[in-house]
Amino acid sequence: MRHLIALSDLTPAEIERIFAITEDLKTKFETGLREPLLPGRVMALLFEKQSLRTRVSFEAGMAHLGGNAMFLGADVGFGKRESIADFARVLGELVDVVVVRSKSHQTVVELARHCTCSVINGLTDYAHPCQAMADLYTLRECYGSLEGRTLAWVGDGNNVARSLAMGCGKVGMRMAMATPEGYRFDAEYLATLEKEVPDLDLFVTDNPAEAVRNAAAVYTDVWASMGQEGEAERRRKDLAPYQVNAHLMAQAPSDAVFMHCLPARRGEEVTDDVIDSPASIVVRQAGNRMHAQKGILAWLLGAQR
Ligand code: CP
Ligand code: NVA
Repeated sequence: MRHLIALSDLTPAEIERIFAITEDLKTKFETGLREPLLPGRVMALLFEKQSLRTRVSFEAGMAHLGGNAMFLGADVGFGKRESIADFARVLGELVDVVVVRSKSHQTVVELARHCTCSVINGLTDYAHPCQAMADLYTLRECYGSLEGRTLAWVGDGNNVARSLAMGCGKVGMRMAMATPEGYRFDAEYLATLEKEVPDLDLFVTDNPAEAVRNAAAVYTDVWASMGQEGEAERRRKDLAPYQVNAHLMAQAPSDAVFMHCLPARRGEEVTDDVIDSPASIVVRQAGNRMHAQKGILAWLLGAQR
């Protein structure tokens, strides 16, 4: 049984295969064809945190593929009525794939351990692999090839940053991170990167201008992720020098794109003039969540291996 819990679950060849399926399905979609590769397949969505993009893109994508999606609300009592193991065993009997967004990465790992159907991580405190897949696919669309290009990450070294670093390593991109002490990847994650993607060229600095200098893309995310609201004030202070504004974008190559997974806190990690500029591809990234996840679903459920 294959799961997508983190990008370490996919080989570079598998990522390329998913991108090829995504490209094919997106091209067909744009000409009005919604190829029903997964008729009768059922997807459950289990979300412990809010979501616009992940929930809607998975539900819409599964509809295009001819399958069904069911959003499981609080009434299923996930984490409350029975053990995660029992919940997973039962769900595995009933559906083909579960997309789960959880407060704790361990919950997703535990669910996958006991589930007899595929489990997809729809964001945890640790990783956001579907976001990184859509983002790398978007860059592939913009530039044609990814190898040797630099993704500059500016700000908190969070779940999205971790998945992008793993993804960059898998596709041969460099990552330049401008992140202050205390917000960088911990030793355990650096060891995971070293093991999974030993060739990753990861450059870490506290100088945003240095990180963006050779960037194909400048990427940022909120300073306080979901669940970190209590630390928001401290984070605002610590991360203020890492705002992506017009001055910083001017230090990047003139054709660099601006990326953000959204939702954004405009005026904090990014200014309006940058996120609304012609260089910004944030809406395209969000649209590609659906296309990339259709590729992931078709691949994972065996319709297009
Ligand atoms: N980028 C992203 O995952 O957005 P949502 O939280 O709205 O799903
Ligand atoms: N880092 C953010 C991403 C939201 C899509 C969070 O975890 O809240």
